[in-house]
Amino acid sequence: MKIAVIGTGYVGLVSGACFSEFGHTVTCVDKDAGKIERLLAGEIPIYEPGLDSLVARNNQAGRLFFTTSLKDAMDGAQAVFIAVGTPSRRGDGHADLQYVFAAVEELAAYIKSYTVIVTKSTVPVGTGAEIKKRLSALLDTSLFDVASNPEFLREGAAIEDFMRPDRVVVGIEGEKAKAVMSELYRPLFLNETPVVFTNRETAEVIKYAANAFLATKISFINEMADLCEQVGADVQQVSKGIGLDKRIGNKFLHAGPGYGGSCFPKDTRALVHSADTYGVPMQIVRSVVDVNEKRKLAMAEKVVKACGGSVTGKRIAILGLTFKPNTDDMRESPSLDIIPALQKQGATIHAYDPKGMEEAAHMLTDITFHDEPYSTLAGADAVVIITEWNQFRALDLARVKDLMKTPVMVDLRNVYGLADVAAYGFSYTGIGRAF
Ligand code: UDX
Repeated sequence: MKIAVIGTGYVGLVSGACFSEFGHTVTCVDKDAGKIERLLAGEIPIYEPGLDSLVARNNQAGRLFFTTSLKDAMDGAQAVFIAVGTPSRRGDGHADLQYVFAAVEELAAYIKSYTVIVTKSTVPVGTGAEIKKRLSALLDTSLFDVASNPEFLREGAAIEDFMRPDRVVVGIEGEKAKAVMSELYRPLFLNETPVVFTNRETAEVIKYAANAFLATKISFINEMADLCEQVGADVQQVSKGIGLDKRIGNKFLHAGPGYGGSCFPKDTRALVHSADTYGVPMQIVRSVVDVNEKRKLAMAEKVVKACGGSVTGKRIAILGLTFKPNTDDMRESPSLDIIPALQKQGATIHAYDPKGMEEAAHMLTDITFHDEPYSTLAGADAVVIITEWNQFRALDLARVKDLMKTPVMVDLRNVYGLADVAAYGFSYTGIGRAF
């Protein structure tokens, strides 16, 4: 089957490459000529494990193409995926759909035979219906259907998530569109991957509900962590103790500095705002957003407290800047709140991250970056672990202690525990563990 993917950002590129791996012929199109040029030269603009070889293999096999011409991409395509950005609109948190609608209106000119237009970008409920309305003004309605096929890809594990998903969700009207979507996902359906065929609005809600539910689990366990610290309990044991109940499940109960990334913060805010427009107050999700925002700043206070009540004139070593490991993505990373809050109180920041420093340099100021952890720690008054990169799990603690001015460790991901570091003479502050 021949398909087009509009937008070569994270979602578009991963989806396009994976569909070509299924054996389909995929053309990815983007307005950014520089990006297409780089892709044509075999350069992958994002860091995602395994994506470079997947793109190269399918490109060489003649199944994966890149172009700036929407016309060429649409030629013979039976389905076209819209994977352009839907950022938070400045000021009100609504999803900004201008790129989605611009793509839709542009592609109408190239639809000559029956085509399924599929939204892959996360779009608020009602967007599919709006796309249909706009296209109906430009095209005969027998020429197209509009489907919603949300993605559930985690950065750093996106290829695995696409190839072996827990489920595929497809929101469509009519058998014709269902046949096209079934053919597209045939390799997965042969593997008995569960599929939810439903109407478009339901699929759109599923995407937001999934992300909001996961974000809720995180804010929930983070609040439990605060309680644990006050009462002498251990949040990791609490996660285990509740997670063994199959109705709760053990995933996404890791307490930390708050969730970040390109999805949870944006999608939870957008859900609150779009539900508001339908007169439905999302009180739980609103609290989840609020708890998360406050949490990031509270982490800076945790550092101040660990430093004896003041960081003025102190050198703080930060290990990990990205919102999670195995990505270079800094979007809405807790480090973006924690670091400026510490700087405001007079701290000097030295930092190291295996992949995120280039992006961080555009978003943060007055940081001395290092190319490895130990020089970052030299002469520091405290070390703060913000992201749980694997290489921070096996630090030579004796060497760290010798290098630091004062051995204070604030471990916002519970990579270590008091028992691990006390023997080396560290004072240790973790998350949700008062001991
Ligand atoms: C998420 C969803 O998992 C994915 O299905 C969706 O399509 C896009 O958003 P991603 O943003 O890549 O994926 O990251 P994820 O691994 O889900 O983590 C999000 C944030 O939550 C990170 O900041 C992470 O550190 C935090 N988190 C996650 C926790 O603090 N605790 C947890 O237990 C899990």
